[in-house]
This record gives sequence, C-alpha cells and structure tokens, in this order.
Amino acid sequence: MADSQNYISKSHQDGKSLLPLLAEQNYFHYNDNNELFCENVSIKTIADEVGTPFFVYSKKYFTDKYQTMSRALAGCDFKIFYAVKSNYNINIINILRELGAGADVNSLGEMYRALKAGVPANEILLGGVGKSAEEIKFAIEKDIFLFKVESESELLLINSIANDLGKIARVALRVNPDVDPHTHPYISTGLAENKFGIALKEAEAIYLNSRLSSIQFTGIDMHIGSQIFSIAPYKAAIEKILNLCQRLKAAGINLHHIDIGGGYGIEYAGGKDFEFDAFSKEIVPLLKNSGMKIFLEPGRYFSANSGALIAKVLYLKKNGDKNFVIADAGMSELIRPSLYGAYHEIVPVSSSGKSEKMYDVVGPLCESGDFLGKDIPLAEPAPNDLLAILSAGAYSMVMSSNYNARMRPPEILVDNGKWHIIRKRESLMQLIQNEELV
Ligand code: LLP
Repeated sequence: MADSQNYISKSHQDGKSLLPLLAEQNYFHYNDNNELFCENVSIKTIADEVGTPFFVYSKKYFTDKYQTMSRALAGCDFKIFYAVKSNYNINIINILRELGAGADVNSLGEMYRALKAGVPANEILLGGVGKSAEEIKFAIEKDIFLFKVESESELLLINSIANDLGKIARVALRVNPDVDPHTHPYISTGLAENKFGIALKEAEAIYLNSRLSSIQFTGIDMHIGSQIFSIAPYKAAIEKILNLCQRLKAAGINLHHIDIGGGYGIEYAGGKDFEFDAFSKEIVPLLKNSGMKIFLEPGRYFSANSGALIAKVLYLKKNGDKNFVIADAGMSELIRPSLYGAYHEIVPVSSSGKSEKMYDVVGPLCESGDFLGKDIPLAEPAPNDLLAILSAGAYSMVMSSNYNARMRPPEILVDNGKWHIIRKRESLMQLIQNEELV
C-alpha cells in the first residue's frame, strides 16, 4: 500500500493542516472569533436551523475548480463530463451543467438524475461494467450521446436493443491500457487485473472486425483510476491509445473523440491537488496533436473539497488510554474512513483555544469500524460542540446508507452569501415507505 500514501489514514502528518489553504481560497475558513464559515456563511447558523448532522457545499469551489481545469486544457478541443457519481444531488449536477459540463453517468438512476438536472441527453455518457438491458433501452430511447462499452457481449446486446428500437447507438470502447495509477487498490481500474475495460489488442480487433448494423464507433475511452497525482500513468495510457488510433486510422476507422477519464487527485492531508500545470505541459500537446476531440470525466476534483460534513459531539469517553469523541455522524454518513482507511481532516466549528489532545472520533453505529478519524488532535471538545469533517463533498453523501435505520442528513449549498437546503433530512416515514406489513 506504499503507493497509496495520499489516500490512507494520516494523523495530521507534520502538523500540516488544510485550513490555511482553504482559508486562503475562502471556501472554509475561521473568522476573527474563531468560528468556522463556508464562504461567508456561518456554519453554526446553519446548524441552529437544520440540526446535525448535515453536509454543506460551497458553490464557488466548483466554479473555481472548473475554471482551473478548463484553463489547463486551453488550446484543446475539449469537453468536460462531470462524473456525477461523486456527488449527484441534482443541484450540484446543475452547477456543473451551467458551467458547461455534460454528465458522465454509471446507472439508470444517475442518468435520470442528470436529465432531471437539465443535462441534455446529447451531453450524457453512459459507462459501467454491468449495464442492464433496462439501462441500455432507456439510454437509447433518450438518445444519449455515447455508450462506453466494456465487453464484446455488452456491445452485442446494445446492438440488438438499438436494432429493435430502430436506432443507432454511438459507442466508444473503454480500453484497459494496463498502466499502474499508483493509487488505492480499490480504486485502481486500468490494470490488466482489474475488471474494467477491454485489453488494447482485443479492442483493436473489435473496432476492425465488428459488423454491427446498429452500432457507430465514434470514439475511444479510458479511465485508469481515482485519486491519482502522477502525470506519468495518464501519459503512458494516452500514448498507447493514440498509437491504437493511428493503426485504426490506417485501416480506415476514424474515431472522433478520446475520453481520458477522471481520477485527478485532491488533497485530503495537506498534500497537493493534481497538478494541472504539469498536465498542461506534458499531456495537452499530445492531445492537441491527436486531432481528436478530448473528453474528461472528473468527479472528486470538483466535489471533494467543496464540502464538509458537520456533526455534533454527543459524548466524550475514555477506554484505556484512548480518548473517544462520540459524534452524531458516522459510517452511515461518511464511510470512506471505514472502507478505505481514508483520512479526513476534522476541525472544531468554534475553536475553544484549549490545548489539544488526541481523539478517535467515532459515530453512534454498532460497529467497531464506525469511525470518522483516528488519532485526531482536537482542542478538548465538550458535548454539543460542532465538528467539521472536511473534504466530504465527494463519495460521501452518495455512499451514505440507512444502516441502523439512520435517516440520511440534509445537504446545504452555500451560494454567494445565501444558503439553501438542496436535500431535506430524511424522515422516519421515508425509512419504511416501501415496506408493508404482510
Ligand atoms: N469515470 C469513471 C469511469 C469512473 O469510474 C470514475 C470513478 C470517474 C470517472 C471519476 O473519478 P474521480 O475523478 O472522481 O476520481 N468511492 C471512491 C472513489 C471511486 C471512484 C469510482 N470511479 C472514494 O471514495 O474514493
């Protein structure tokens, strides 16, 4: 796991904190009274009205990150498709849509959400290693822009459904370039051993030999993993794919677009975001020379540091040498620490100025794996204090659950001095709405 050092738990390494950085960018910062704000809205004010726990997102963060990425791609003919799986609240999808992004979706539900958020069907890409006939039919009926196909049998099914509906399906094969993205094994996808994509040789044969009347090959696709910091695996994969495109061109098959996927890493532990300057220098020239339209599918880069999970301290407790903070949020709201050992910085919403001790911040669920952070330095908290778990805008609410029959928390969007509830807290009624006593 040495390669995943940007991913696995870090306990405030080197005393570095995200906060100075966030403060500088003005998304999450303390005011002069040591109260945490999201942009210029007090977190405590929101908590007083909506209760805890809740997620809060800064709209400005999305805009700024979208611009950073777009600037890096200047000179390329490109289009960004937001990977809605990272945060699929329809308001968040809509922010990206307004900025000019299409949507990269992975299921019927995500496709439905993207359409409901106003993304036109011809700006939607459908991926996924296991698309069902129902999903394929829905996508063809809506006439979405592209299927990213992951196996020959899937291609045959798409062809047959398109044929039945009298339509043509546009397709890019998702190739597996067999490069190591040096990330957490659970989110590495471009190695031959992973379930994703089609080996280059096999993809070449499919492009060359398929004679399917309802399929039009328009492009080629890759996605090598998530939370990647290094430029090298992107470069290696893109070079392999562009070589393949050259060979296909020589055989008379002209692909119009190359989708280089998502995966651009963000800082969870005071490290650095994915370096788009280096990307600009090393990758963009390759892409420009390809003469193809470039697609990207970022998720986390836009959403992760836009958001925080706000929880309340319920109890303090000591077991042996361990100090525990028992919060009113846990793995049901944010499973990343339990599932991947992921690190999220945890800070007080009102800084007490008391001296720091090390705490395990845990939730109320009945699992020892239910924790938000281990060995976290915190100024001695008291019951009812609020805590902010940072970098919780991506793969957080979307991976939440009703385990222990907990009600999912509300989501709040801060937009230019105002805040809006963009998803209400779930109710007891909603917990059982699909059940009947028989
Ligand atoms: N495109 C495809 C085909 C993907 O599978 C993914 C993410 C993305 C784009 C967006 O990747 P991003 O830019 O967000 O890294 N639950 C994990 C992350 C799983 C990523 C799955 N695929 C986590 O919490 O870290």
